Amino acid sequence: MQETYLYDPSLLLKLDFHRTPATFKPFISATNPGEPWMKVRPLKDTDYDRGFLQLLSQLTHVGNVNRTQFLTRFSQMKASGDYFVTVIEDTRKNEIIGAASLVIERKFIHNCSVRGRLEDVVVNDTYRGKQLGKLIVVTVSLLAEELGCYKMSLDCKDKLIKFYESLGYVLLPGNSNSMTIRYDEGTTLKRNTTSAMAGSSSAAGGDSCQTVVVILPFKSTFIK
Ligand SMILES: CC(C)(COP(=O)(O)OP(=O)(O)OC[C@H]1O[C@@H](n2cnc3c(N)ncnc32)[C@H](O)[C@@H]1OP(=O)(O)O)[C@@H](O)C(=O)NCCC(=O)NCCS
Repeated sequence: MQETYLYDPSLLLKLDFHRTPATFKPFISATNPGEPWMKVRPLKDTDYDRGFLQLLSQLTHVGNVNRTQFLTRFSQMKASGDYFVTVIEDTRKNEIIGAASLVIERKFIHNCSVRGRLEDVVVNDTYRGKQLGKLIVVTVSLLAEELGCYKMSLDCKDKLIKFYESLGYVLLPGNSNSMTIRYDEGTTLKRNTTSAMAGSSSAAGGDSCQTVVVILPFKSTFIK
């Protein structure tokens, strides 16, 4: 059966994991994830049968997405060229065990530049604590740099700020607020604003979101 990648897998061969501020002990990368049965690659149209959506349900509500809906969304993402959903597969089990998405946003500003957004980061709970979270986030962050993004940002819960900081992301003082209007929770619009100010009451609960950004390239001496 023919399988289709969401994006060109050879892009992952170009990533230099020595450029990231993240520390891997032992050193691993997208091409050498540390185990012969582990593979870092773009999402495939056949990953519906490898538990991709079940993995996402460890992150948030997924719903009853059938195969046709999955394939339609996959085709739309592929056609746009701006979605870089990246996964880690346990090839022994034919199962997706980690995922993160880079979404490219095209701008008029900065000379029609592009920026990246990091979305939907998750590692299967039985595989956590083995550097796979770092591996998948660094993979898509380096990919954003490779694709010419001038920056990459994400929203995360307070407890994950340290995790992302160790990978090069920073809270920009006075400019790291995350604001939301939800359209999926009934007729009343629910506003949710959180602040990156240290000690702010909204952050104290640990369940609020912060915007964290990494300015690219990782090393300013690097000239493309
Ligand atoms: C966040 C997540 C992806 C991390 O995956 P992982 O494979 O366990 O991460 P790693 O093994 O690479 O851990 C890297 C570091 O982050 C820390 N860390 C990992 N998960 C953490 C968490 N939930 N809270 C605080 N620190 C965490 C680890 O202790 C480790 O620190 P160290 O390098 O000092 O040892 C995983 O816990 C997960 O899928 N969580 C549920 C979904 C989620 O919250 N996604 C993030 C949305 S923004």
